[in-house]
Amino acid sequence: MHTITLIQGDGIGPEVTASAKQVIDALKLDIAWDVVNAGLDVYNETGELVPDSVYQSIEKNKVVLKGPITTPIGEGFRSINVMLRKKYDLYCNLRPALSIQGIETRYSDIDIILFRENTEGLYVGVEHVISDDEIHAEKIITRKGSERIIRAAFEYAEKHGRKKVTLVHKANILKLTDGMFLNIGKDISTEYPNILFEAIIIDNMCMQLVMNPNQFDVVVTMNLYGDILSDLCAGLIGGLGVIPGANIGETIAVFEAVHGSAPTIAGKNLANPTAILLSAAMLLDHIGEVKSGEKLRNAITSVLKSGVKTTDLGGDATTTEFTKAVIEALG
Ligand code: NAI
Repeated sequence: MHTITLIQGDGIGPEVTASAKQVIDALKLDIAWDVVNAGLDVYNETGELVPDSVYQSIEKNKVVLKGPITTPIGEGFRSINVMLRKKYDLYCNLRPALSIQGIETRYSDIDIILFRENTEGLYVGVEHVISDDEIHAEKIITRKGSERIIRAAFEYAEKHGRKKVTLVHKANILKLTDGMFLNIGKDISTEYPNILFEAIIIDNMCMQLVMNPNQFDVVVTMNLYGDILSDLCAGLIGGLGVIPGANIGETIAVFEAVHGSAPTIAGKNLANPTAILLSAAMLLDHIGEVKSGEKLRNAITSVLKSGVKTTDLGGDATTTEFTKAVIEALG
């Protein structure tokens, strides 16, 4: 029996996590849920942004399905999402961008597995006020942090029969930080002679992704570049409503969609749950329920192919209608 911590999140979080819970329950696996929450709504109720019960549940169950949590922009509390990744050392942010049959985009056969370093870089959020008119931000890159994410990308490539790893950097300008990340990548690549290694500057990467995304296979990069590239990749396959993700550490793994809390559509039954459902499929793989993960992916594809789609994909299905269709497709 697996117990999974479910963090509902806010904005569209409660709607999409409810969808994922219903769909996983319909698979009739030996799974129990520990439902908790964090964020502004919780703060207004309890006076705590992240109640102790959330940490206790994560540490006990070690596997988490998480909805998005709003972070105030330019003011207010720091990101709870970033804090959880740092606290539990969830260094590997895995964001696969795969074309999904049934979703029309201008590209086809996209199959890019993005590895984003998840605990360092500019996301350490260390900023210094020098004066009213000058503020500095620190970018932290460590050998340990770089080695483990680059190695994770190569190990994945080897295990899954992938041909190429592309490392994305800006070492022409950031010669020390990005330079070290790049050099570590070059060194590690020599241990994997069967996998082609290439390095590309982030600006060129953005252009190449739009012009010819099919040239990419496994991609590894630092925190901020990875965050931006994963939204770009989402745009190639149908948008943020369909791209899943996982934050993986040595002992704890948190599965969540790439998208945020989408406040403008929250509470309207409009959110596309595909991204969190695909994240849930990754969770099922992680806990060894690989057949069920595959069954879930197939059900999602067959629903989309049948034309049942939420409004972000040009359809008119509500979150609950789409969820019901996926459950029916599970058989
Ligand atoms: P967002 O991802 O929430 O929304 C961007 C656009 O995509 C909006 O047009 C939204 O309506 C659409 N969208 C996103 N998910 C969708 C879905 N499932 N179905 C249909 N349409 C969808 O990004 P935004 O607006 O920049 O951020 C909103 C908040 O979310 C911010 O507070 C941000 O910090 C937070 N955020 C949280 C994340 C997390 O908890 N892991 C990740 C990214 C952002």
